[in-house]
Amino acid sequence: MAVSAASVARAVGSPILLSWEKLTTGVSYDLLSQKVQADPYAVYREMRSKDPVHWSELARAWFLTRYAEVSSVLKDSRFSVEGTQQKSNERMGYKLDEASPLRRINKRWMLFVDPPDHTRLRGLVNRAFTPKAVEGLRPKIQELVDGLIDGVHIDPILAPDVVARINRVILEAGEYFERHIEQRRRNPTDDLLSTLISVEEQGERLSSDELLSLLFLFLAAGTETTTNLTCNGLYTILRHPDQLARLQQDPLLIETAIEEFLRFETPVQVTGRVALEDVEVGGKIIRKGHPVGLLLGAANRDPEQFADPDRLDIGRTPNRHDAFSFGIHFCVGAPLGRAEAAIAIGTVLRRLPNLKLRSETPQWRPTMNNRGLQTLPVTF
Ligand code: HEM
Repeated sequence: MAVSAASVARAVGSPILLSWEKLTTGVSYDLLSQKVQADPYAVYREMRSKDPVHWSELARAWFLTRYAEVSSVLKDSRFSVEGTQQKSNERMGYKLDEASPLRRINKRWMLFVDPPDHTRLRGLVNRAFTPKAVEGLRPKIQELVDGLIDGVHIDPILAPDVVARINRVILEAGEYFERHIEQRRRNPTDDLLSTLISVEEQGERLSSDELLSLLFLFLAAGTETTTNLTCNGLYTILRHPDQLARLQQDPLLIETAIEEFLRFETPVQVTGRVALEDVEVGGKIIRKGHPVGLLLGAANRDPEQFADPDRLDIGRTPNRHDAFSFGIHFCVGAPLGRAEAAIAIGTVLRRLPNLKLRSETPQWRPTMNNRGLQTLPVTF
């Protein structure tokens, strides 16, 4: 088994840092431990009540768990997204190679840039990502879901060397995307890519590099999140037979059910910002340059915002969860993610009415920011 310097440092250093954290803040949490990953909600509950604006010595970052503070920081221009990715990698002991295909692609992602660059990119993308464009995709999504249910025996293959594979895939997918961009430039159709090529705002167009980078952002931001929403939603509804029966009796409840799955098992559990100046948050001063982890999944179980937050209610209204974030970086793909999950979960429950969990304790993936299942064994 390969052991990285970062994992050794973590194994040796964690107990010391956690003791220091406890000494200085009165409480300490290891959000990366397997126990927390399996069930983060007990820890979130404790953090929310004991130290809602918590300095983690282990992560060298602030963690916010209350809905009020999480949503206000997301909307606050005194916090930046630039540099958040490098900072979290450095804290884990990894240095990102600026010349790697991965960095060349993602350093201009709108997710990691502040205004005015963000305003310009987002303005152009909003013009292509319209409700009409998403509506037009519904038949295609339905066809894909039906095709997958028709042939449910395919297993995903996991390669051992993830980063090398990502870089290889980026090079190959880059060529694929570039071929399609060229094709659509010559022969525009009515799809999203043709629209992205043609959108213009105040005389501005997307450059070829920006277009390529955007396609990768859609792939990265839209694939795992929607997969996790779909699997987490199915897992959750199968664990709540009363809510399952309710949905089967009234399939139109799928829209509010999706919102409840987004709140209850939030696919993106944490996102990051960096303070651009000293800011007071919940009675503490976050110093300029300090990183802040916004625990979206914790805020979504805050009893100050949601009545009986640990109860699943597929008809819950209002349900102003933060699973798609707030403010200028609010998820551009929210309508598409919602439509994909609604069609997938709705179709699975309709076409496989005897679907049952094979295990009550499935394996969660060992990541902190994306909450998703490694596998979801079912019978049908
Ligand atoms: C259910 C599925 C999804 C979830 C839970 C989700 C979640 C999020 C969250 C939390 C953010 C904001 C992060 C922050 O504020 O730091 C975000 C941004 C974004 N998402 Fe999604 N997303 C989903 C699906 C999609 C899809 C399908 C696409 C596109 C095909 C997409 C594209 C984007 C983009 C481009 C941004 C950056 C927006 C900006 O910086 O202005 N997402 N998403």
